[in-house]
Amino acid sequence: MTIAVRAATTDDADSIVEVSLRAWEEGFRGIVPKRIDPRQAWNPERLRARLREPGETEHSVAELEGRVMGYVVVGPCRDHDAPARTGEIWALYVHPDAWRLGLGRALVRHAFGELGGAGFRAATLWTLAESPSARAFYEACGLARDGASQRREALGSSLEIRYRIALSERRVGGRAVRSCRLCLPSLEQLYVLSQRSALE
Ligand SMILES: CC(C)(COP(=O)(O)OP(=O)(O)OC[C@H]1O[C@@H](n2cnc3c(N)ncnc32)[C@H](O)[C@@H]1OP(=O)(O)O)[C@@H](O)C(=O)NCCC(=O)NCCS
Repeated sequence: MTIAVRAATTDDADSIVEVSLRAWEEGFRGIVPKRIDPRQAWNPERLRARLREPGETEHSVAELEGRVMGYVVVGPCRDHDAPARTGEIWALYVHPDAWRLGLGRALVRHAFGELGGAGFRAATLWTLAESPSARAFYEACGLARDGASQRREALGSSLEIRYRIALSERRVGGRAVRSCRLCLPSLEQLYVLSQRSALE
């Protein structure tokens, strides 16, 4: 079984929408009210535009035997109470046909690498309180609840809880900074990079 994670391109938009809608249907059934139609949010044209101009986010896909079966988006944390250098997993979906094969874990590992490489010191995410599978998954990935909760109309006011993890210092100042769109390297990181180059 071959799992590969790579940057998403505009050619992936249809596959990503399919993966996300199927994951939403299976994963959120009985939790998010039926009046919330995920097709409003998941539209291939809109996604293609976002992939063309990702701004401060990074979009990646996981392929299983060459077929796109998972999707993750990371960026700076959007919460008003976020400490500096906090990143966020904005979205994460794996097609139900590929659940429990390790794609989710591979995507989270990749997400942490992207965020750590961009200088973020911690990562957070929101997930549904009533989804035992998502909670078990994030806990298996090393995240822990930080006590925050919220309700948003986009999810039919279902209760969401926040998870957090500290990112390894080792990744800060790593080479990924130079190619990452998430943020510009800080002066401190540029200094570390110049020191590394001088030593190599
Ligand atoms: C949550 C989700 C991303 C997990 O993806 P996945 O590829 O199935 O996860 P993995 O195979 O990498 O699982 C890694 C570990 O997480 C835990 N885990 C994953 N799914 C689980 C479940 N349904 N029940 C209990 N534990 C689970 C296990 O410890 C698993 O390791 P194991 O299979 O060796 O026991 C996927 O189920 C999904 O897309 N769900 C719907 C959308 C969603 O909830 N997204 C996240 C919140 S927005």
